Amino acid sequence: MKRPKEFAELILASLSDGIVIVDPACRVVMLNPAMEEMTGISSRRVVGKPLATLLPKASLIPARVVATLNTGHPFFAPEAEWQQGDGKPFPTSVSISSLMDRAGKNLGAVLVVKDLRRIKELEESQRPGERLNTFGVLAAAMAHEIKNPLLGIRGAAQLLRDELPTDGAREYTDVIIREADRLNALMEDMLDFARPHSLQRTPVNLHQVLDTVIALERQAYELHGMQIKQLYDPSLPDLWADRNRLIQVFLNLVRNAREAMSRGGTLIVATKHAGEPVRIGPGGGPMLLVELTDNGCGIPPEVQQNLFTPFFTTKAKGSGLGLAISHRIVEEHGGRFIIRSVVGQGTTVRVYLPLSLGVTGGSLKEEAAWPRRGS
Ligand SMILES: Nc1ncnc2c1ncn2[C@@H]1O[C@H](COP(=O)(O)OP(=O)(O)O)[C@@H](O)[C@H]1O
Ligand SMILES: [Mg+2]
Repeated sequence: MKRPKEFAELILASLSDGIVIVDPACRVVMLNPAMEEMTGISSRRVVGKPLATLLPKASLIPARVVATLNTGHPFFAPEAEWQQGDGKPFPTSVSISSLMDRAGKNLGAVLVVKDLRRIKELEESQRPGERLNTFGVLAAAMAHEIKNPLLGIRGAAQLLRDELPTDGAREYTDVIIREADRLNALMEDMLDFARPHSLQRTPVNLHQVLDTVIALERQAYELHGMQIKQLYDPSLPDLWADRNRLIQVFLNLVRNAREAMSRGGTLIVATKHAGEPVRIGPGGGPMLLVELTDNGCGIPPEVQQNLFTPFFTTKAKGSGLGLAISHRIVEEHGGRFIIRSVVGQGTTVRVYLPLSLGVTGGSLKEEAAWPRRGS
């Protein structure tokens, strides 16, 4: 094992929460790297200075720290501003605890500082009257709270792994690391789902989007003896869409198909000009259709009702956010999403995307730039 001091330093460095340690006279002893990053101030520059130099003038935090130093009682401030090196304030929450040695002698206090900028941005990025719903705020706050300690757990497991003598024992630390990564990805999905996004539209070649997704998934398919067939209509013009968001949509769908075909099978990815029932898009222009057909397990009727419900999943390790996010992205593009499935035979997911601009955005001039079929 590494020496305890070194170990403690590594953990302090791996935390994504800011840590400030002060002495009994309320002078700064150290900032951890996360706090240095939040404030843009290096620990060395403030060591020995009063805590108040890191805070706006009116801050009550120094007084709270003194109270904790005197009484030993911890204190939590859900909202407290700190100051960056350039004087700009930023929102945080702060917990203050006293530091004592084994004999009960007061050594100072520890402040754990959580950066609330991302959550505040989330709240403020919404138009008035359209603030994040309760679920969104809760999900974002939870994801944020979980991601921080998770990083610490992962970092500690990584250190532990390097100290272990045998591969047998490392299997356990690898489980911790792998599951921490999975949880982290889930938290990212949750933040993504809660975050209101505006689309970054550019001309997008749909076939390039699909090729990118298939290239990412090809190996996993082949590994399990599955195939992907592409049936593209080469006459399709470019879309006016958010390329990265569309990649997200089709990656979710291609993964779902793979997970449904665990016993082997073929996914057919076809593109075409849409016919009925969704031939005409919200802007009055034609629609394109991407059809993903798998011959996997199929979806029972009771599951079909809940496909777009966030967190609804039938998988032991599923997040249940894939279709909810995909559905929303397609709707934001003015498109439609239709799923047909027969248990034991397979599933067809149809994604319709408008060729001209949806009702939600863009000018007529831009619309004219993307040729319609036959023009
Ligand atoms: N192609 C498919 N074949 C069979 N079932 C599917 C398919 N796509 C989605 N599902 C069902 O829909 C559920 C929700 O999917 P999704 O939102 O992507 O979440 P997750 O994949 O994390 O479970 C899945 O758990 C599964 O039961
Ligand atoms: Mg999924």
